[in-house]
Amino acid sequence: MCSDSLPAIRREANVSPPPRGWVRLPRMERDVDRILISQQQIAVRVAELARQITADHTSDGEVTIVPILTGAMIFCADLIRQIPIAMQIGLLTVSSYPGRSLTTQGSQVLGQQLGDVRGRHLLLVDDILDSGGTVKLVTGLLRELGPASVRTCVLLRKDRPSAQHVPADYVGFEIPDEFVVGYGLDYNNYYRNLPDIVTLKQEVIRRMTTP
Ligand code: IMP
Ligand code: MG
Repeated sequence: MCSDSLPAIRREANVSPPPRGWVRLPRMERDVDRILISQQQIAVRVAELARQITADHTSDGEVTIVPILTGAMIFCADLIRQIPIAMQIGLLTVSSYPGRSLTTQGSQVLGQQLGDVRGRHLLLVDDILDSGGTVKLVTGLLRELGPASVRTCVLLRKDRPSAQHVPADYVGFEIPDEFVVGYGLDYNNYYRNLPDIVTLKQEVIRRMTTP
């Protein structure tokens, strides 16, 4: 089929607002307040982290990468493709900001697919250190499984005492204590596919939190 015959994709649909009570979908770029960290800055830093992790783990022989889903998915995918070490991947799904919450509701492990990690060197990968509850919970759980070592890598760390007090071996960026989305981080499970790390407009948060 000739591409001319395909319907044009309209970036901003000119439709009337949905009736009250309907879920209003995020409008992505138009909802962004400001870019905190651009995709170019992220790429440079992820490559640096990968070099550092590779150097630190080369003598370990093998590593098991444990991304915390869903937030660490995109970061981890970019990171591990630049770590040329034999690795396995173990998955952990943790929820701490369910639905429309803007503050942590306490971390909870929802599922795991770790395999046998006894005697293995583990690298936990998460998107952000906020209250620190998730990393604390997960490192505790992993240590009980008898690994050779557990190291932690987070892309972002918020400038708040609780985040600073949780030890992390690798930190991508220190950021202000603000709610951010993009590059895997979500609000109500949206915006993960934004390539930059951004803040949202206040009116967007209001619109999505008002029933
Ligand atoms: P913590 O347990 O409070 O450190 O929070 C960690 C988890 O909460 C992260 O893995 C994120 O999924 C989520 N989270 C914390 N801060 C933010 C944010 O600013 N935006 C989106 N998600 C966040
Ligand atoms: Mg998360």
